[in-house]
Amino acid sequence: NWNMKNFIEDQVELIRKQVGDKKVLLALSGGVDSSVVAAMLIKAIGQQLVCVHVNHGLMRKNESESVVKIFRDELHANLIYVDATERFLGKLENVADPEEKRKIIGGEFIRVFEEEARKLEGIDFLGQGTIYPDIIESGTKTAKCVKSHHNVGGLPEDLQFELVEPLKQLFKDEVRACGIELGLPHDMVYRQPFPGPGLGVRCLGAITRDRLEALRESDAILREEFAEAGLDKKVWQYFTVVPDFKAVGVRDNARSMGYMVVIRAVNTIDAMTASIERIDYDILEKICARITAEVPSVSRVCYEITPKPVATIEFE
Ligand code: XMP
Repeated sequence: NWNMKNFIEDQVELIRKQVGDKKVLLALSGGVDSSVVAAMLIKAIGQQLVCVHVNHGLMRKNESESVVKIFRDELHANLIYVDATERFLGKLENVADPEEKRKIIGGEFIRVFEEEARKLEGIDFLGQGTIYPDIIESGTKTAKCVKSHHNVGGLPEDLQFELVEPLKQLFKDEVRACGIELGLPHDMVYRQPFPGPGLGVRCLGAITRDRLEALRESDAILREEFAEAGLDKKVWQYFTVVPDFKAVGVRDNARSMGYMVVIRAVNTIDAMTASIERIDYDILEKICARITAEVPSVSRVCYEITPKPVATIEFE
């Protein structure tokens, strides 16, 4: 009979058979799929797994820290942490076009990962968080949703590995159940979707460091308040966005220009269409008060009410 315990045992067996005493490399973003694969591989082969976490400088507040904490400190994974913030932000300087930004982030991700792979000796396998819907969806028009740079598809000829894909028969809810069974924290397994290019596509237009900071801090406040109100368990995706202009405000009795934070909170089944969450005004006002108090560069907070279509979920 099929249950998650048996599935994990079977996969562990298969992984050990496939890998033998060789090493497996895994790009560990901290997303649901890569985290669950990592946990599965740790169970199967322990120190033969080498995880690489690339911080592209566009992660949410404390996100990379928590990946390191969970996988290195708690699960004792062999984890290489690469802080590539300067590299990514340097390449992105003055780049305003969203697709150009995506290309730079995706391309740079592959290069950083490739450099790390070359430093390591004797790696024969590449772990991947491919899940069943990825297989069905590949080749369809939802190119934006295909996490191309997380799938590390663009590695050069001499760095071709045999793939280890233990989740490829599972649907998303089964992947989550598998993660829980493997002992991963609930927050990690049930976290909201986060795009590969991260905060890069929410810091609209050409990314600047101070605006990225305003975005990261406001997003952290939004997430805290959503958790406090229990909305984190109810709403499919919620985040803030910071457009690339300033709006006038008043601080200390004087006119001062500040950034505008936009709150987006949507519900959807498949991300093809989405409706907005009707957030209670008391909660919205509390979020606004906290953001304007705690993030001094912000002068205004807005609430986005457009469903998809006509809008998309992300702003660029
Ligand atoms: P849109 O904005 O097209 O987003 O309505 C639909 C879903 O896809 C996510 N998204 C991305 N995910 N790389 C990703 O991995 C991307 O470039 C990307 N763009 C959008 C978005 O967060 C939403 O869940």
